[in-house]
Amino acid sequence: MCYPGVMVRIRAADLSDAAAIADIQVETWRDTYAGLIPDRTLLGLSRTSHTESWRRVLRDSRDGTITRVAEGPDSRVVGFANAGCARPINLPYDGEVYTLYVLPEHQGAGHGRRLLGAMFSALRTAGGRSALVWVLAGNPARFFYEAMGGILVATREEPFHGVVLSECAYGWPDLRHHVEARTQASGSSG
Ligand SMILES: CC(C)(COP(=O)(O)OP(=O)(O)OC[C@H]1O[C@@H](n2cnc3c(N)ncnc32)[C@H](O)[C@@H]1OP(=O)(O)O)[C@@H](O)C(=O)NCCC(=O)NCCS
Repeated sequence: MCYPGVMVRIRAADLSDAAAIADIQVETWRDTYAGLIPDRTLLGLSRTSHTESWRRVLRDSRDGTITRVAEGPDSRVVGFANAGCARPINLPYDGEVYTLYVLPEHQGAGHGRRLLGAMFSALRTAGGRSALVWVLAGNPARFFYEAMGGILVATREEPFHGVVLSECAYGWPDLRHHVEARTQASGSSG
């Protein structure tokens, strides 16, 4: 689908994006995960420590981690995504999208689709064939992944800060189709 009038640029993240990425992560976690993960975890999120963590990720790309940001027309970073090798699990997927977040007020404008497409393209360029993403079973974002052609491939229960979270994995077994589909769906810059 095209999103007329929405100008956005997807670009590689650099060190100077660490604070903006941390802000988006904290804001979207609080907006999305209230009621899904413990309140004390959400209240304890620290922009400062997230900024430091992202500086480390962006500084050290030797592990092949890919991070892209979506910029709005005023060059403000409104979303980001991060991907790399699939974390060890007994599933036939070689790539994984670790994070994908769009600021609440910018959701529904096509940024998520473009960022996911950018992740798939980058994974393909790095030699990857397939990808998966883990999402909380109670997170409506799972339906975004279904809309993006992901198929439900696994579920698991994960201990997290004193509770057990139900998660599901969506997979794209052949990224070639999705990179092409993304190009056709892209309606503006980026
Ligand atoms: C999930 C998220 C990344 C999607 O990004 P977005 O920019 O809002 O989504 P888009 O506008 O690109 O939507 C693309 C398509 O997915 C559909 N979609 C998006 N969110 C959806 C949802 N919750 N349920 C069903 N469909 C959804 C849209 O309708 C659209 O379909 P269309 O192009 O056929 O109209 C974003 O909403 C977000 O950051 N949510 C909070 C954080 C989060 O949960 N991230 C995922 C963690 S695993």
